[in-house]
Amino acid sequence: MIQVENISKSFGDTPLLKNISFSVAPGERIALLGPGGSGKTTILKLILGLLTPDTGSISLMGRDMVHMTSDRERREVLRKVGMAFQQGALFDFMTVRDNLMFAMEHMTDFDLTEMDSRVKRFLSAVKIGRTELMYPYELSGGMQRRVGIVRALATDPIVAFFDEPTAGLDPVTSTIILNMIRDLAGKTNDQALVVCTSNVEIAIRFADRIVMINDGEVVADGPWRQLILSGSPWVQKFLQVRLIGLDTEYALELDLPKEFISQHWNSNQPAV
Ligand SMILES: Nc1ncnc2c1ncn2[C@@H]1O[C@H](COP(=O)(O)OP(=O)(O)OP(=O)(O)O)[C@@H](O)[C@H]1O
Ligand SMILES: [Mg+2]
Repeated sequence: MIQVENISKSFGDTPLLKNISFSVAPGERIALLGPGGSGKTTILKLILGLLTPDTGSISLMGRDMVHMTSDRERREVLRKVGMAFQQGALFDFMTVRDNLMFAMEHMTDFDLTEMDSRVKRFLSAVKIGRTELMYPYELSGGMQRRVGIVRALATDPIVAFFDEPTAGLDPVTSTIILNMIRDLAGKTNDQALVVCTSNVEIAIRFADRIVMINDGEVVADGPWRQLILSGSPWVQKFLQVRLIGLDTEYALELDLPKEFISQHWNSNQPAV
C-alpha cells in the first residue's frame, strides 16, 4: 500500500530525514511515532506528493509519488486517500455537512442519497449528529477534530492518514477519537491506516506495529509489545517512560506485556 525507500530530505542546509524506509501493507494500522519536530508530518507530505524528497523512492498504492508530474494523475491517486491534517483544515465558510459533502463530491462517485446517508451515519457514529448544519467556528476543538476524522473516512479511502488526531485533547476525548477511527474504519479489512503522533499511549492504543523516528532516522519498526522489551535502549526508554507508573488497572487495559508489568509494577501499587 505504501512503500518508502531510503528517503532523505533537507530544508536548506539542515538534513531532516536520513534514509527513511518503511512499508505499510493493506489492512495494517501503524503509528509513526517520534518526538515533536522529528519529521512525521514531513513524511506524510512526502508520501502524498506534496513535497519531493532529495533522494529515495515512494510508492503509494503502486504509484510512484516522487516522479509524478501530472496533477491529474496525483488527484486520481489522492481520491483514494483520506487525510486528517494536524490543524483541522475544515472550510470555515461551509457547514459541517457541506465540508463532508464537498469531500465526497470531489473524491467519490457516491450519489446524493449515499452521500446524505453517510453524513448522518458518520456524524452520529461520533456523537455529533447535531452539528450537521453548524459552522466549524461554532464547534469545540474536539468536535472539529471529529469532523476532520469523519471527512477523512467518509470517502471510503483505501489509505487514510491521521496527523496528531488527539493533540491538545483531554484523555477521555482522545480515547473516544481513537476508538472512533478504529470503528469507522473497521468496515473494510484491507484499508490501511497511519496515525502520526508523539504520544506513546496514543500509538500503542491505536496500532500493533509502530515505526519510530528519531534524529531523522527510523530507529525501530515492529510490534510495540516486542519493542518495549527488546528495542534499543533509546527505544525502550522512549516507550517505557510514559507507561511506568500508570495506574495498574489502566496498564492492564492497555494490554502491556506481562513481563513488562511484572518488572515494573508490584501487585497493587505502580512502581515509581
Ligand atoms: N517547508 C519547510 N521548510 C523549512 N523547514 C521545515 C519545513 N517543513 C518542516 N520543516 C522543519 O522540519 C522539522 C520537522 O517538522 P515536522 O512538522 O515534519 O515534524 P513533526 O514530527 O510532525 O513535529 P510535531 O510532532 O511537532 O508535529 C521542523 O523543525 C520544521 O521546522
Ligand atoms: Mg507534525
